[in-house]
Amino acid sequence: MKITFICGSNRRNGNTDAILEMLTGALAAKAGERGMAVESEVIHLGSKRIEMCSGCRACFERGEAACPHKDDIASLAASMQACDLLVFASPVYVDDVSGLMKNFIDRLAYFCHRPGFAGKPAYVIATTGSSSAARAIRTLQTALITWGFHLSGAAGFVMGARMQKTEAKERFGKKIGGIASRLLRELEASPTRQPSLLDLVVFQIQKKAWLKAGIVDGKETYDYRYWKDNGWFDPSCSYFSPAKVNPLLNGLARLAGGIAGLFI
Ligand SMILES: Cc1cc2nc3c(=O)[nH]c(=O)nc-3n(C[C@H](O)[C@H](O)[C@H](O)COP(=O)(O)O)c2cc1C
Repeated sequence: MKITFICGSNRRNGNTDAILEMLTGALAAKAGERGMAVESEVIHLGSKRIEMCSGCRACFERGEAACPHKDDIASLAASMQACDLLVFASPVYVDDVSGLMKNFIDRLAYFCHRPGFAGKPAYVIATTGSSSAARAIRTLQTALITWGFHLSGAAGFVMGARMQKTEAKERFGKKIGGIASRLLRELEASPTRQPSLLDLVVFQIQKKAWLKAGIVDGKETYDYRYWKDNGWFDPSCSYFSPAKVNPLLNGLARLAGGIAGLFI
């Protein structure tokens, strides 16, 4: 099994790197104790070529292959689809994610229209100097839930301008051990995990939105066709993947989707 870490800090060996180094170390140790084979890959967005989103909407209207930028974003999306769990980590810049991370999210915004991660677990980390990491975490979680991810948790780390690794270990070693155990449990549960109420509600709302907005001037949009071709508009379809769905949660999600549909 593979965990891919997406690091949105442009500062190598900074605070976010320190947290990811501790987390990959804890994961290796705990996976070994459990006899699990877990590979970790850290991708530094700062070392990739990612042009700024030009806002042309080509990816929305004609598909991601129509993006005018020919850079590393397609191979990054492929790496994200190939792994079993993702961890997104960003420093807090002016109360939100770094510009590097934000542009990365923007370049992949077509996944908000055509979710490509059907229940894959994702964990969010934000490091901050002194203030709250809440908004940065929310920015990442908002993107990830609409891309189809199952949110498995989030953690913020208050670290000042640059925390020494020894201090980071002392302060956060236990917390990071807990996150590592959590991620391993997510990996073990993944094949049989039922979608949560939040997963089901987001699916129902997106379904309503694309059913309503998907036909323009009598023509099916690219997004509409994607949803249709996947069978997600089928009235019996409750989630992106053919996962087992709890009937009570499903009923609640359909009700929430129905209500949201009145306002979309
Ligand atoms: C441009 C910039 C903006 C920042 N904005 C904030 C902020 O709004 N609140 C805060 O508490 N820390 C802020 N910080 C501090 C970083 O969030 C903090 O030091 C973080 O852990 C740095 O991670 P890194 O070493 O991986 O880049 C800022 C740092 C920079 C460079």
